[in-house]
Amino acid sequence: KNASPDSTGTASGELPADVRARGYLTVATDPTYPPFETLSDDQKTIVGLDPDLLAAIGKQLGVEIRFERAGFDSLIPGLRAGRYDLAVSGMTDTVERQREVTFVDYFDAGGALVVPAGDPVTTDQLPDALCGHRVGVQTGTITVGFSEKASKACQAAGHEAIDLQMFPSVPGSVLAMGSGRIDYVWTDSVAAATQVKNGKGRFTSIDDGTEPAPTGMAFPKESADLARAVQGALQKLVDDGTYRAILDRYGLG
Ligand code: ARG
Repeated sequence: KNASPDSTGTASGELPADVRARGYLTVATDPTYPPFETLSDDQKTIVGLDPDLLAAIGKQLGVEIRFERAGFDSLIPGLRAGRYDLAVSGMTDTVERQREVTFVDYFDAGGALVVPAGDPVTTDQLPDALCGHRVGVQTGTITVGFSEKASKACQAAGHEAIDLQMFPSVPGSVLAMGSGRIDYVWTDSVAAATQVKNGKGRFTSIDDGTEPAPTGMAFPKESADLARAVQGALQKLVDDGTYRAILDRYGLG
């Protein structure tokens, strides 16, 4: 076999030989984030848009997909420690994270607040309307940074800081809001919409006014060839309509 990095066959989007030989990919996810990933009612399987997409990619590449559960904030450290082949968890592709992992983007999402039904807060009052309020965010997510920045702006304008409360999951923070322990939950728009639906009229959501950002599958930096293969498989699923059909299943087409 030719040892030059450009002619190992991976540039054409084929799976790296070691992955092909072992026959599976280990995919890390935090399954607390519907519609991207959540546990099935019997708690035995991980279901959602990400598992559906991964199943199609696995089929395309001829490998089995093995999910591993992890806390959202341990996904990138786990990738860097070589514990998983990739992480797929509704993760926003940011410049900061690009320093640590390589992304293959597959979706765009903005941010939103989940608020108690009847709360008068509107998008154009943000972020000022959060000053002095108890706001729940999931540990390790981009909304931690957004809310810290908003809190600093509150203080710079002479208002009270935001009372930031970290939760291990978005559903956990929504539960806390339902029982009055926090005022608002800040998360991605698609996740917020699912929480509103599951809340059966108790909550509503408002756009946070930020630009939609890409969501990506994350790979260790050393796995550029695997990322390319997955990118190629994803492109085929986009071209043949499978990708659109999966989004439709979750009302996102
Ligand atoms: N998109 C947000 C981020 O990347 C939140 C993702 C949370 N995903 C999850 N499976 N809990 O920071």
